[in-house]
Amino acid sequence: MSDFPAVLQFDGGNVRSWLDDQSANIEEALDDVGAVLLRGLPVSSAQAFDEVVAAFDLPVFSYEASLSNAVRINHTPRVFTANEAPPEVEIHLHHEMAQTPIAPSRLFFCCLSPADEGGATPLCQSEALLEAFAEQHPKWADELKRKGLRYVTRMPSDNDESAGQGRSWKSTLGVNSQSEAEARLSELGYDFEWQSDGAVRTVSPVLPAVVDVKEGRASFFHQLLAAYLGWPGVRENPATALSFGDDAEIPSELLETLASLSSDYTYDLNWQAGDVAVVNNYLVMHGRRPYSGATKREVLVSMAP
Ligand SMILES: [Fe+2]
Repeated sequence: MSDFPAVLQFDGGNVRSWLDDQSANIEEALDDVGAVLLRGLPVSSAQAFDEVVAAFDLPVFSYEASLSNAVRINHTPRVFTANEAPPEVEIHLHHEMAQTPIAPSRLFFCCLSPADEGGATPLCQSEALLEAFAEQHPKWADELKRKGLRYVTRMPSDNDESAGQGRSWKSTLGVNSQSEAEARLSELGYDFEWQSDGAVRTVSPVLPAVVDVKEGRASFFHQLLAAYLGWPGVRENPATALSFGDDAEIPSELLETLASLSSDYTYDLNWQAGDVAVVNNYLVMHGRRPYSGATKREVLVSMAP
């Protein structure tokens, strides 16, 4: 397999023409290894990043329309903050919104300002991870593929920025009342249960754990690691957030094995100001390392359906 991620260095001149010239290389890298870093671009604002994304001429996957459970802030219709979770919180590897029926196929990240310490974006090659996992644990791999997954999430009554998944149900579902929420959840195939604190506990419809990509290739497509390692209480009891599609429990050993194996296929993208990374959400998982220091880390994101 080729270098991961692929790196294309901007050599000056007009950004738009350079992007047009590189377009075939970028698409090839996204199909092949799943991630490409565009380095050295003169991108220092949300607006400039918006223009880079616009050059790809893809429809907008908007945060409002998504069921993302992260709290985010919009900068332009196309661009929003990556995640408002506090710096010390690690965001573990995941395929964006794979725990929902509405997931983007492509992600764009842009670093306006790297953190003083830490704050890399880990990128994991999920196709290679699946291959290695299936070789070591064919039964588990087959079970994941055949049964798919269901995710339990809790949407709070109000936005909670201290949590990695603190987006309120009103914001997540784009509704104003409990009855509208119920209609929307039913339409999306969710089971749900209201909690005494005004939150709603939801169980997703059966979603894939493995997806087919081009030319008979297959890749993982899930939130198992982010949920197991990052969601409160899930490591202690995975059944609180995860099950196979037939509601059977997922063994902790499966999740531990996957977590430890994933590091073999993970590359830490250490940001430089102006970097833009384009990610094929079906082939590559991403996360966020913790960070510290006085400089505000600014990484923005944009998505396409
Ligand atoms: Fe993400």
